[in-house]
Amino acid sequence: MTKGDNSSTIEALFDENRRFSPSEEFKAQANVASPAIYEQGGDVESYWRTHASRVTWKTPFTKVLDWSEAPFAKWYVDGKLNITESALDIHAQATPNKVAYYFEGEHGDTKTITYLDLYKEVCKLANALSDLGVRKGDRVAIYMGMVPEFPVALLACARLGAPHSVVFGGFSSDSLRNRINDASAKVLITCDESWRNGGRVALKELADVALSESPSIEHVVVVQRTGAPVNMVEGRDYYYHDLVVNASDERVAEEMDAEDPLFILYTSGTTAKPKGIVHTTGGYAVGVATTHSMVFDIKDGDIYWCTADVGWVTGHSYVVYGPLINGVTSVLYEGVPHFPDKDRYWEIIEKYKITQLYTAPTSIRTFMKWGTEYPSKHDLTSLRVIGTVGEPINPEAWMWYNEFIGNNRCPIVDTWWQTETGHIMISPLPGVTTTKPGSATVPLPGINVDVVDDDGNSVPNGSGGYLIVTQPWPGMARTIFNDPERFKDVYWSKFSKPEENKWVYFAGDGAKRDLDGYIWLLGRVDDVMNVSGHRISTLEVESALVDHQAVAEAAVVGRNDATTGQAIAAFVTLKGGVQGDDKLIAELRDHVATKIGKIARPASIVFTDELPKTRSGKIMRRLLRDISEQRQLGDVTTLANEDVVHEIAARAKASQSANSAE
Ligand code: PRX
Repeated sequence: MTKGDNSSTIEALFDENRRFSPSEEFKAQANVASPAIYEQGGDVESYWRTHASRVTWKTPFTKVLDWSEAPFAKWYVDGKLNITESALDIHAQATPNKVAYYFEGEHGDTKTITYLDLYKEVCKLANALSDLGVRKGDRVAIYMGMVPEFPVALLACARLGAPHSVVFGGFSSDSLRNRINDASAKVLITCDESWRNGGRVALKELADVALSESPSIEHVVVVQRTGAPVNMVEGRDYYYHDLVVNASDERVAEEMDAEDPLFILYTSGTTAKPKGIVHTTGGYAVGVATTHSMVFDIKDGDIYWCTADVGWVTGHSYVVYGPLINGVTSVLYEGVPHFPDKDRYWEIIEKYKITQLYTAPTSIRTFMKWGTEYPSKHDLTSLRVIGTVGEPINPEAWMWYNEFIGNNRCPIVDTWWQTETGHIMISPLPGVTTTKPGSATVPLPGINVDVVDDDGNSVPNGSGGYLIVTQPWPGMARTIFNDPERFKDVYWSKFSKPEENKWVYFAGDGAKRDLDGYIWLLGRVDDVMNVSGHRISTLEVESALVDHQAVAEAAVVGRNDATTGQAIAAFVTLKGGVQGDDKLIAELRDHVATKIGKIARPASIVFTDELPKTRSGKIMRRLLRDISEQRQLGDVTTLANEDVVHEIAARAKASQSANSAE
C-alpha cells in the first residue's frame, strides 16, 4: 500500500485482477457491439441529438443544449412533447396487446396490463384528477405501495403536466408531511394499505396524520388494495375506483415544453431538510430511454424486471419511464424477496422467463447469506443481462451474482448514478465493455466524468479522488425545488470556476480510476475515514471483510481516536451457522490487514445479526458512528429495523473494552 502523505487524495488500496469480456454469442446479438459508440459520444451535442429520436416530439427542438445560464441547463430548447405519448400512445397504437406490466402481488394474485389497458387507465385517472382541479404545474403527492395504480398515478400526472412528487411508501407520516408541504402539493394519491412481508402497512392512516398538518392538500385519492376500512373525509377523500369508473378513457396529453418540470423527488443530504430534486421533461425522457435500451440490451420480446420500488429514482427511471418509452414488457412485483420463502425472486424469474434483472447489491449480499439452495431450485436460464444499482458492489458479491444468478453467462452491468443525475451515468455496455468485479467501469457514451483531487485537478490513473461530471447531460437535475441557490451550492460550488465559465458537477462520491481508466466507486466522501493521515474508504474495508468466508455483510465507520485521528469500527454479520468469537475477531482483523494493509485493520469488530438499514436497504453508517463514539443515537425514524441499533449498541459497549484500538 502507499505511504500516507498529506495530500487529500483518497487512497485506493484494493487490487482486483479478474476480467470478464462479453461472449461472442452475446456480442453477435447486442444492440451495441462496437466500441465506436464511445467516439460518437465524444461529440456530446451531436450524440444526444441523434438519440432524441427515441422520443415523440410534438414540436421539434431548435437547439440541443443551452448552457449559457450554467449550472441551470436547458436541453432540447423549444421542443414540445408530453412524455406519456412516447410511453403510451405510440405503443397503444402500434402494439395494443403487448404486455406493459405483469403485476405479481405479494400474495400471489396477478394482473396482466397491456399497453392499451395502461393507456386507457392513465387517461381515466388523468380525467378524474382534472375533475378534482389538477392543472398543469400543480404538484401531486403520491404515497403508495407497489400496485399497478402506482405507475398509473405517475403517468396520469405527467399526462396533465402536473409534476408528481412521490414519497416512498416506507416513509413515516412526518416525512410525508414535510415533503407535501415543501412542494405545496394539491392532491395526494395513496392506498388504503399496502402488503409488505405478509403484513399490512396502513398507508391511509399514516397519510391522515400527515394531512392534519398539510393545508395545501385539497383532495385525496385512495386506491383500495387490501379493502381495510379507512377514514374517508367527505368532500376531500375519494376512492380511486369510484372516480375512474365513469371517466373517459381518452385524454389529450398536455403540451409541455422540454424544460417544463416532470417531477420532484426528495433526497436526503447532509442537512436535515430533504432536497426536492427537480427533473424536467425532454432531456429526462431521452436520457432514460437511451440508457435503458443500451445498458440492458433491450429487445422486443424481452421480459424485464427492475426490483426497485417506484418510490425511488430507480423506480421512476427504470420501472416506469425508461421501459415504457422503449415499449418493453416489465414485471412489477409488490413484495419482499423472502415472502413466502427466500426463493421468491427466483420463482418470479422462472415463472415469467425474465431476461433482464436489475437489483441492488444489498439484496445480493442477503441472497448470499441465505445460500445457493434458493436460486438453484429454479431455472434462471432466461436471464441475459443482470444489473446492480444503489451502492458499490463488492467483488465477492459480484462474483456470486455472476455465478449463481448469471450462470457465468450474463454480462453484469454495475450502474452508477443518482437521484440528481436522473439516469445511468457510469456502466458497462454489456456487448462492448470488459467488466471487472466491483467496478462500474467507464462512463456511458455522451457522459463525461473525471476523478479529481481537492484542488479539482484530474488525478493520474491508479489514483483516487472525487468523482465529478464535467459536461452537462440530458437527465441532469435542473434545480432544487424553490431553492436554486442551494442547488448551486451543494452540487456546483466545490470544483467549478465560474470566472472561467467552467462548471463541474460534484457527485459527493469518492472514486478511484485504475490504470486502465476504469472507475471504482468508493462510497460517499462523508463515509471516508482518515486513519493516521490515510484516507481509507469504508467500502474497501467492508469488501475485505466480506471477502472472508465467514462473513455475510459488513459495515465500517470511522470513530474518533486520540492517537490515530480516526479508528476503524467494524460491524459484521456472519453467514448462517458461523459463531463469532474472539478468535474470529482476530482472524478478521488479520484478514483485512492482509488484503489492504495494517492501517486498515479494524480497531474493533462487533458481531450483529443484522445491520441497521433504511427501508431502501442502505446501511445507516451515521448510527453506527453514533454507537462507535458512544453518543446518543441520532434520528432513527427512517430505519427499517430500529431494534437492531439498540442491540448493537449494547454489544459494542461490551466489546469496545475487549478490543484494542491500535
Ligand atoms: O453513492 C452513490 C450510490 O448511491 C448514491 C445515489 O443514491 P440515490 O440518489 O439514492 O440513487 C440511487 C439509485 C440511482 C450515489 O451517490 N451509488 C449508486 N449507484 C452506485 C452507487 N455507488 C457505487 N456503485 C453504484 N453502481
